[in-house]
Amino acid sequence: MRQILVTSALPYANGPIHIGHLVEYLQTDIWVRFQKMMGNRCIYICADDTHGTAITIRANAENRTEEELIAQVSEEHQRDFSGFHIEFDHYGSTNSEENRVVCHEIWQSLRDADMVVEEEIDQLYDTEKGVFLADRFVRGTCPNCGSKDQPGDNCGSCGTTYTPAELVDPVSTLSGTQPEIRSAKHLFVQIEKLHGFLDEWTQSGTLPSESANYLKNFFLNEPLRDWDISRPGPYFGFEIPDSPGNYWYVWFDAPIGYIGTTQQWCSANGEKLEDWWKSDSTEIHHFIGKDIQYFHTLFWPAMLKTAGFSLPDKVHIHGFLTVDGEKMSKSRGTFIEAATYLKHLDPSYLRYYYATRLSSRVEDLDLNPEEFVSKINSDLVGKVVNLASRTAKFIQGVGLSETYPEDGGLFDTFAARGDEIAAAYEAGDFGKATRMIMELADQANPFVENNAPWELRKDETKAQELQDVCTVALNLFRTLTIYLAPVLPGLAQKAGELFGEELTSWEQSKAPVTGREINKFKHMMQRVDPKKIEAMIEESKELAAAAAPVPSGEWNDSGDALAADPIADEITIDDFFKTDLRVARIIEAKEVPEARKLVQLTLSLGGDETRNVFAGIKSAYELEELTGRLVVMVANLAPRKMKFGVSEGMIVAAGPGGEDIFILSPDEGAVPGQRVG
Ligand code: MSP
Ligand code: ZN
Repeated sequence: MRQILVTSALPYANGPIHIGHLVEYLQTDIWVRFQKMMGNRCIYICADDTHGTAITIRANAENRTEEELIAQVSEEHQRDFSGFHIEFDHYGSTNSEENRVVCHEIWQSLRDADMVVEEEIDQLYDTEKGVFLADRFVRGTCPNCGSKDQPGDNCGSCGTTYTPAELVDPVSTLSGTQPEIRSAKHLFVQIEKLHGFLDEWTQSGTLPSESANYLKNFFLNEPLRDWDISRPGPYFGFEIPDSPGNYWYVWFDAPIGYIGTTQQWCSANGEKLEDWWKSDSTEIHHFIGKDIQYFHTLFWPAMLKTAGFSLPDKVHIHGFLTVDGEKMSKSRGTFIEAATYLKHLDPSYLRYYYATRLSSRVEDLDLNPEEFVSKINSDLVGKVVNLASRTAKFIQGVGLSETYPEDGGLFDTFAARGDEIAAAYEAGDFGKATRMIMELADQANPFVENNAPWELRKDETKAQELQDVCTVALNLFRTLTIYLAPVLPGLAQKAGELFGEELTSWEQSKAPVTGREINKFKHMMQRVDPKKIEAMIEESKELAAAAAPVPSGEWNDSGDALAADPIADEITIDDFFKTDLRVARIIEAKEVPEARKLVQLTLSLGGDETRNVFAGIKSAYELEELTGRLVVMVANLAPRKMKFGVSEGMIVAAGPGGEDIFILSPDEGAVPGQRVG
């Protein structure tokens, strides 16, 4: 029996679980369920990733403490996961005492190994608020082109990058005051000291070959850069014990959360942490997305190695979800939250669909709505459930034949495929596993059709034959549901109820059952109704569009934004009308490859009138969310020559920058070209 510890990446506590996340949590859950069915001792550990600036910003915006926010989100995440039959052995939080203790231990090891260095970094400091300012809380004049009101890291006009300290006349967006440059001490981990080890470890078969190959070049070419793992307070996180006022950067304590959370599980179950994280007889498997590889293939193994914990045996890396060939998009309604999905559709559908799309390679996978419908309806309902629904009712009260009937070798064929299917599950190649299972189902269905139990039952002299045909069909069904059980635990449970047993072990697939009662057939799975998919997409669109009006009495807007940016000097109405604001439609949104913050918009003012505008909104919007929407533009702004072309106006937006940029949109009914005022 193997002993296996499995983790999924710890989801950020600043937002809801969506169908993109579910690629990973479903993939992991299927693998864990498979291991458990094989009789291995396997635990599935996960937690919310709770620290960092994003949490503080959202908590502030919602006028509550970080702790209140993460408690609520944790509940929502766990509710969503269990709605999809994702079963953790323990779900914790990185903001736990257990995690703090492990952070201290690993930190001490890094210190002892002399891998921590201090460096002074110039940072802007808001003397009024008493905080160091992250890039996105500073604006000022570009040191290169002189454009005013630019963000702290990159000029929206000329595209130059700089540090906030280089801005001319910087202003803190938190207080509206001029921040001063203070140098702050940051702590860095010198992972270059483990260059040789990491080079070897990443090539040892632990990673998918695509990732290993990529990293190979990486090691050849350059020394590994020191990793900045501290942030000056205030910061929502753990204070660094030997560096008061400094906190561990969220990505330091997040992976340690795997261990901290295991510790919680151990305490609750009378287990010892060493047996799971410091023992050669335990395998450790991480499941992560390709976006967070670096953290798991460089920093994390370096920390584990230094502190004497086990290294992962495998890091399973998956690609990203697209819907209908494109990135998930709020405006198209394909940014679907787990909770929204569950209001409309059976979680088993998505479990099965993703399984058919998953392999052991690092590749993106597409959710295609038409294919989704046809796969569920033809595979699961048409080929699998149908075997039972067309036969079980004929032997209710009679039961299965006393001995397993002659079936032309069908059952043996089914049982013989078991090892190969198991190997595909083990390798994470669920697409292959489900394909093999459906090939078997394709052999079972002709058996039922050719023997037509619905005809046999009309002839009393054929009672034995009827019982035998149903016995064969139901046994084939039973083995199929066992093979599918890691993917479809719900179906396996209902099938188990039919046979009066629990289908929880792979072994059960190997021998037919005979001479027993068959319970009443209950509905097992409904066909997918495409209308429900439409409704789900519609609801997702509305959810995204509705920064839902808050009911009166619940307004609770803080004065921070106004305080940060007080109202300007008075003007006359004529002054105001000098600014010609117009409704415009974004008819094209393009990437500006060399500019980190800019997108290039083509705005239509109706008819043939278009304008080319560069807007610094890349950090907050996907290109595809922009195309088609109405905006408000400043139409009579003098054209401005930029590095990438001429900008002929600007679109109107609010917010401090970064992800928090909010484009203003006219209400329904407005048309391009209309004047705003
Ligand atoms: N908090 C970090 C992980 C810390 S692990 C010590 C994080 N959180 S996340 O919520 O952004 O993402 C959690 C996991 O979901 C990641 O592995 C990420 O790759 C995966 N996915 C998030 N969106 C996804 C898609 N659209 N498609 C597929 N997987 C995606 O990263
Ligand atoms: Zn500039």
